[in-house]
Order: sequence, then structure tokens, then C-alpha cells
Amino acid sequence: MPHLLMERNIVTTSKRYGLSIFVEAGTYLGDMVDAIRRNFEQVYSIEVSQQLCKKARTRFRKNPNVTILEGSSSVVLSQLIPTLQRPTLFWLDHYCDDPLEAEDRQPPVLSEISTILEHMAGRFVILSSSAHLFGTYGLPTVHQVKDLVADTAPNMKLLVENDILRITPTV
Ligand SMILES: C[S@@+](CC[C@H](N)C(=O)[O-])C[C@H]1O[C@@H](n2cnc3c(N)ncnc32)[C@H](O)[C@@H]1O
Repeated sequence: MPHLLMERNIVTTSKRYGLSIFVEAGTYLGDMVDAIRRNFEQVYSIEVSQQLCKKARTRFRKNPNVTILEGSSSVVLSQLIPTLQRPTLFWLDHYCDDPLEAEDRQPPVLSEISTILEHMAGRFVILSSSAHLFGTYGLPTVHQVKDLVADTAPNMKLLVENDILRITPTV
């Protein structure tokens, strides 16, 4: 899916659900952060690569509402979630689509989603890129994610639209 459409999807979703914090897993060069940072009060982006993290920190050094966090998303998310005091949009965009490397490098996305579902206190939405990769390359199937949502958060539902997994409140 083109980056511009993902950006629009994020901004439209944040407006629809009144979300003021953005949390991204997978910063890379920070292009999504740059595209959406004016639409959120607070922006956090998590990057596992020390080099990319450093680059992104330099890029956003003059943007006080942007924080680049270094580390693996599964660890950083569990530390960050208890500090989030406002409605939050989680953007999971940290998948590996190289078939030769994916089995070893894929993030533990089921446990990350489970951490968010179990520990987020207020209103939130989880969007994940690359729905087409689910069920391949070491990622869970969409059905496994759907079952997790049904078991952990019956007040949330999962839909797939335009290659994006959307976990949103039922009301
Ligand atoms: C597709 S790029 C992200 C693109 C970015 N979200 C954007 O729209 O500009 C994926 C990034 O995720 C990072 N990554 C991979 N696994 C990660 C993990 N477990 N935790 C944090 N970052 C991770 C990679 O180093 C890479 O920079």
C-alpha cells in the first residue's frame, strides 16, 4: 500500500476515535513520524536499530512532541504503555518481508498485541501494516489475531482493509 494512503488511514482513524497519542513500532527513517506528527499531541516511535534510531533522533531534534525510543518493540511497548495517559493509536509497521530472513527476524506480534489489549487502560486503536504477510514468514494468521482479540478484549473487533489490520472499539 502506498505510504500516502497509510498516512491518510492513520490520520482519519485518529480523528474518528479522538486519539491524541501515536505509538509506532518500526521508525526506519522516520517518514511516518514526519507525515503524522502535526496530527498528534505526542508521538513515540520505537526502532530496534541503534543507527536508525540515532538518525531519527537527529531528524526530529527540533520537534518536542516526538520521542524516538531505541529497543525491541516488545520490550519498549510494555514499558511505555503504563505511561500513556491519553487515547492512543498504535501503528505496528516493523515486519520483515525478506523470505530468507523473516523466520528469524519477525517481531513477536501476537504477544505485542496481547500486551496492548491487556494493559491499555483508556481508549485505543491498533493498526498494523502488511496484512498480506500474516500467515507467512513466521507471522501469525489473521485468524489467530482475531481469536486473541475475541478472547482478550471482547469490546474490540478486528477488520482487514486495504492491507491494514484494524483492531478498533466495537462502539
Ligand atoms: C518498514 S520499516 C518502518 C517504516 C516506517 N514505519 C515508515 O513508515 O516510514 C520497518 C522498521 O522496523 C524496524 N524493526 C524491525 N523489528 C523491530 C522490532 N522488533 N522493534 C522495533 N523496530 C523494529 C526495522 O529496523 C525497520 O527500520
